[in-house]
Amino acid sequence: QFIPRLQKWESSCRKMIKGEQKMNDFIYHNPVKVYFGKNQLCHLGEELSKFGKRVLLTYGGGSIKKIGLYDKVKSEIKKSGLELFELSGIQPNPRIDSVRKGAQICKDKKIDVLLAVGGGSTLDATKYMAAGACVDFDPWDFFSKWAPIEKALPVITIPTLAATGSEMNGGGVISNPETKEKIGRSSPVLLPKVSFLDPTNTFTVNSYHTACGSVDIMSHIIEVYFAPEPDLYMLDTIMEGLMRTVIKYAPIAMKEPDNYEARANLMWSSSWAINGFIDGGKQHEWSCHPIEHELSAIYDITHGLGLAILTPRWLEYCLDEHSVEKYYQFGTNVFGIDPNIEPMTVAKKSIDMLSEFFFDTLGLESSLSKAGAQEKDFSFMAKRACRGGIIKGFKPLGQKDIEEIF
Ligand code: NZQ
Ligand code: ZN
Repeated sequence: QFIPRLQKWESSCRKMIKGEQKMNDFIYHNPVKVYFGKNQLCHLGEELSKFGKRVLLTYGGGSIKKIGLYDKVKSEIKKSGLELFELSGIQPNPRIDSVRKGAQICKDKKIDVLLAVGGGSTLDATKYMAAGACVDFDPWDFFSKWAPIEKALPVITIPTLAATGSEMNGGGVISNPETKEKIGRSSPVLLPKVSFLDPTNTFTVNSYHTACGSVDIMSHIIEVYFAPEPDLYMLDTIMEGLMRTVIKYAPIAMKEPDNYEARANLMWSSSWAINGFIDGGKQHEWSCHPIEHELSAIYDITHGLGLAILTPRWLEYCLDEHSVEKYYQFGTNVFGIDPNIEPMTVAKKSIDMLSEFFFDTLGLESSLSKAGAQEKDFSFMAKRACRGGIIKGFKPLGQKDIEEIF
């Protein structure tokens, strides 16, 4: 049964090549310079110096001090004769207040370059500080009024958690506790100039955040992999390889936090899952992310946990006779399910195996109620997730669909 299915897939690829099936043109341009590995921090001073003398170092609640990275970074900055300013206390699900503070420091201290050291929250907030420094209006206008993001100060990043891929993309998601909103945007001007990816900096990430980060990586791939139209076969196989990498190494990293091989594989996968490469010409909207952002906005849930709970339910909701092929491909190529099994059974089994991976292997909570969500908010969150319209993703989703998924 596998062979006819493969033939069907190949024939759809042939149609694409002949132009019978739509395959979109695309531009791929990712100029982020990456230093990967254990011995690269010696280049930090030289990279920062390219942009000026006055550096704003940003970080979160203090993990970078505990892991000794703060001292190392400071010493490199000192060696290069740069002037250092600091902003700490950036919270998970980063708040607009941190962005406002950072943008103001940039203006007051005439900062030349920002150095974000931490998880995705620190990196995201720093990008918007860099953009906020170049405008006269409140940085929340980037989200509430969709103000154009045309300019930003240069940002260099040192990620300490494998998850968001923020180190290699121009995106960022910011929360506003006053309005209970969490909104993401991206712009090429927010792409970091340089990122230092040292897997040893992630050795201290605890089991829970390693699990949540791994789900986030999986979700970034799944959002693209499950698309209404096929794109390049080559990209599908790369996505399958990335997903298998996360499935293989996340449990190892949880059991052996200082396993370099596991941490390195997760770290580089996290960057490639969301740096634009796997998108090819796909133009559909993401589904689970806008829905999850509502959970984080209202209950301050960890992003990866929300995604873990939603993704298998969303896959279940989208499964039908038209979409079953994609699940078959996912089940056989990612989870190694016997290709001779009937497709609908493979599809359901693939969802079960994904759930087992999230909830048993990674040990995450499996229900919204256990994560603190309340049914009374579902309708409101669903409406906001689709902005009162339709999410044009793998399956079009309106408010009622999203309520069902919740
Ligand atoms: O604040 P500190 O003390 O640094 O502690 C953090 C935080 O408590 C801790 N941590 C980070 N590195 C550590 C560490 N603890 C020990 N050792 C280390 N090496 O981990 C906790 C979580 O950090 P956070 O930055 O919030 O995690 P993550 O990297 O998962 O970022 C999540 C945020 O990124 C957004 C999410 O919505 C969420 O707000 N996203 C950003 C994206 C992007 N820019 O492209 C895409 C994603 O889909 C996502 O939406
Ligand atoms: Zn994500």
